[in-house]
This record gives sequence, C-alpha cells and structure tokens, in this order.
Amino acid sequence: MAIDARTPEEMYDRLAEKLGDLVPEFELREKARLAFEINRLKERRGAIILGHNYMEPALYLSVPDIVGDSLELARQAARTRKDPIVFCGVRFMAETAKILNPDRTVLLPAERAGCSLAESITAEDVRELRRRYPGVPVVTYINTYADVKAECDICCTSSNAAAVVESLDSDVVIFLPDEFLASNVARETGRRIVFPTKTPRAEAGKDPELEYAIVGWKGRCEVHEQFTVEDVRRVREQFPDVVVLAHPECSPEVVAAADFSGSTSAMIRFVREHDAPRYLLLTECSMADNIAAETPGREMVRLCSVRCPHMAEITLEDTLAALEHDRYRIEVPEDVRVRALRALERMLEVAGRKTLTPSGRA
Ligand code: 13P
Ligand code: SF4
Repeated sequence: MAIDARTPEEMYDRLAEKLGDLVPEFELREKARLAFEINRLKERRGAIILGHNYMEPALYLSVPDIVGDSLELARQAARTRKDPIVFCGVRFMAETAKILNPDRTVLLPAERAGCSLAESITAEDVRELRRRYPGVPVVTYINTYADVKAECDICCTSSNAAAVVESLDSDVVIFLPDEFLASNVARETGRRIVFPTKTPRAEAGKDPELEYAIVGWKGRCEVHEQFTVEDVRRVREQFPDVVVLAHPECSPEVVAAADFSGSTSAMIRFVREHDAPRYLLLTECSMADNIAAETPGREMVRLCSVRCPHMAEITLEDTLAALEHDRYRIEVPEDVRVRALRALERMLEVAGRKTLTPSGRA
C-alpha cells in the first residue's frame, strides 16, 4: 500500500524507518519529496499506480497502490476502475493492463523499458511455428508484446506456467519464448523439451521426438541467464546456512541447485514464511533490497552485478512526469487487442480455477 503521508517530512520519516541503512540521507530526502508529490497528484487525478516487485526500494515502498508479480498485477489491472493506470514496470506489463482496459489511459513512465524475452520473438515467428506444428496449442509467457499474444492460445506467468500447460490436455505444447522457463516447465510436467530446427519435422503424433513434449524457443532473460551453478556453489561454500531461491527464468541447472524456485512474489512469500538467517535470491537485485527493508534480521546475500536495465528505467522522477504530462501512453491496435485479450482471459480463468493466492499489499 502506498505511504499515506501528510507532508514531505512525514514521507521522509516513514521511508527512513525502512531504508535509513540502505539509502544516503540527502538522496532519501529527495526521493521522499518526489514520492509525496506523486501521491498528491495521484489522488487528485483519481489514478492508480501498479508496481512490479523489481522496482527500486524507495519507489516500491512509497507510491504503488498494489505491488506484485506479473500475474497479480494483471489481475489487479483487470479489476481496477481507476483512470489513469500508471504502470511502474516494463512495457509488456503496461500493454497487458491496456489490453484489459481499452477505455482507460495506461501510462508507462519510461518509454524504453523493454524486456529481452519480449524482444526475442515476433508475431510472424509464431505464425511460422503454427504452420510447422499444425494443431499444437501455443502458450506464451506474458513477457511478450501484444501482437505475439494475439497469435497464441493462452498466456502464462512464472507463477502458473506448469498449471497452464497441464490445463491444455495436449501431449505436445508449444511454449514461447523463454528457453529456460520452458525447460523448467518440461521438467515439472515430466515432458521432453525440443526446439525447432531447420530440418522439416514430422507432424505431432508421427514424430517420436514429439510424443510428450514441449516445443521451446531460444529466448532468454538477459538477467537470469547469467546466474550459474558455480555462483550457487561459491555462496554455499561461504555461507553453509544460506537458502537459495531461483526464479524459473534461470537455467534448469541453476533451478536444480537451488532450494526453491518460484515467481518474484512466491520468493517474497517464501522469505516471509521461513526463518532462515540468510537467503540468496537469484533474480533482479532490487528485490533483495525490498525484502530486506520488510524483514529486518534476515540477511540477503546479493549478486548485484546482474541488474535488469529495463526495470531500472522506471524512476520516481519519471513517474511524477508520467502523471503530470500523461506520458507515455500505451496504445494497442483494436484487432490485435481483442485477440491478445482472449489469450489473457484464458490464463486468468485457469489461474482462478487453481486459486493462486494474490499477495499484492492492497
Ligand atoms: P514475475 O512474474 O515472477 O514477477 O516475473 C516477471 C519478470 O519479468 C521476471 O524477470
Ligand atoms: Fe525481462 Fe529479464 Fe528484465 Fe524480467 S528481468 S523484465 S524477464 S529482461
């Protein structure tokens, strides 16, 4: 829940309680001033701010009405009646909010906040895969742009990927575009993983390779692909009591070397619900700061050389400018939107059936 402060000084005091040991005083005072302005303007405009778990700590703690992982934020975007919706996350997330809310203004504070997974595949790639594997259902990770979602049957996020694949009741499933997430889901659902090659492939049902399989794509998250089993080994050697949590966008080897794997919110819940003294989070580094601010007394071992440059584009300055100047407006062509909406709605239906627990703070 956003911090409801009556003055910039009160905002500073509230932030300093949590971040006093992490952020230098002069910087925190400036951030508190910006956060106070944002919340005032948000109130005046009747806006809502949705914030992904990767937002930097001062922003994460002060201005979003709801924080969460991709699935929770998509659900909240589907529910909200507020207008405008300011999305403190990356473009595919803001696009998802727009697909669900065509009549409302959706603002992304930084124009260039992309994602290496979303960039790894085009709508034409999906059409080509459909020609190659006729009749095989296509699942897309939510980390794709609207035109790609429009070509797919159903979306998934890191918190429901295996459930979505299993909901399809098909031995062969195309799963796009994250190579590692697809491999992790294949392992979880007991399937083999195959990747399209240049040589023609026999149809599903006639090719033994495709008997009980996931057909993947070679997209990768530029952050999570960098974590290695050697990183895990070294940290365990130095801190034998460390608990290792890995996002499922990490390689299957890294996930196997970890103690737990789940979405960003699942990792946060894990730390809240366990009382180990130390955790290593194999994901965007800001999230470790956010958890540390919330759960003092637990040590977060950080590998902060690995950052998401796209998430880092979203600052308090740009969030204020977004509300002041209505920028940057997200638009999705209507013919694309209605087809992408089908894939999103099917996912939300499966997520509802599985009663995945939302953990947004509001
Ligand atoms: P979550 O849905 O787990 O928050 O993941 C989003 C993402 O982009 C991770 O890199
Ligand atoms: Fe995309 Fe990776 Fe950044 Fe998430 S962390 S937004 S998957 S590049």
